Amino acid sequence: MKTIIYYFTGTGNSLAAARKIAAVLGDCELVPVASLQDTTGDIHPGADRVGIVCPVYFTGLPVMVASFAGRLDLSGSQYMFSVVTPGGFGGPSALRQLDGILKRRSGRRPDAGFMVKMPSNYILMYEPPSGKKCEQILAAADVQLEDIAQAVKNSAKTGPGYSLLARLAHLLFYPRFASRVHDDDRKFSVNDRCTSCGTCAAICPAKNIELVGGRPVWKHRCELCCGCIHLCPAEAIQAGKQTAVRVRYRNPEVNNADFKAQKGD
Ligand SMILES: Cc1cc2nc3c(=O)[nH]c(=O)nc-3n(C[C@H](O)[C@H](O)[C@H](O)COP(=O)(O)O)c2cc1C
Repeated sequence: MKTIIYYFTGTGNSLAAARKIAAVLGDCELVPVASLQDTTGDIHPGADRVGIVCPVYFTGLPVMVASFAGRLDLSGSQYMFSVVTPGGFGGPSALRQLDGILKRRSGRRPDAGFMVKMPSNYILMYEPPSGKKCEQILAAADVQLEDIAQAVKNSAKTGPGYSLLARLAHLLFYPRFASRVHDDDRKFSVNDRCTSCGTCAAICPAKNIELVGGRPVWKHRCELCCGCIHLCPAEAIQAGKQTAVRVRYRNPEVNNADFKAQKGD
């Protein structure tokens, strides 16, 4: 059974998760959602089994993933699954959002929705986990991902789950996030530690960063994935004062070449 997994990632968790599921399924192609961002029209996967793997942003989907899902035609596929990788809260509401989009688009909900807790990368609000704590979260995620992959392989059916708190938080916070996210890069700045290496521009999945005079300039098509902050080798990119004192995070199994490849250029 041929599988296509579409993924979106800012700091590598969702790509690492997608790869682990793919390894169990076999005959599986990984396609970055970001590689389709400049295309238009319906997307026909041409695979029997289709998956989407992505982070949770403000208890919902990254905006790029939501708009991608609205173009996805699942009529030629037998089985569809989704996996979200929240740092802790809001997985069910993100899965439900995806269900709703696909139902409206294809008249069909995913057959199964899963969530797996991964290290939280929302550095604007929290200190990302590091050291032993981070290792423990990743080890627990590996166990869960093995189960998820087996469930997908067996064409298991499971709903997205429900959390009243997450639902309320989604109604309260997600619309505001989604309507302003592209401009959220106005919070970003770069300090004198910048070495003009260009990593930020190369890894940004939204093609939102250009180097001007050797310094990053954000072009207001931000997804707020925080990749530029976390992956800058000089830790020169900040968002307000808090990020200067917080540790950076990247999934240890994902490298810069993987992030660069995400745009599909
Ligand atoms: C803008 C933003 C908002 C986030 N909101 C949530 C959230 O509502 N709930 C949650 O559990 N995690 C949240 N996170 C954490 C990510 O979903 C989590 O770290 C994810 O594993 C990152 O995946 P990635 O490495 O593939 O980008 C947020 C992260 C960012 C950058």
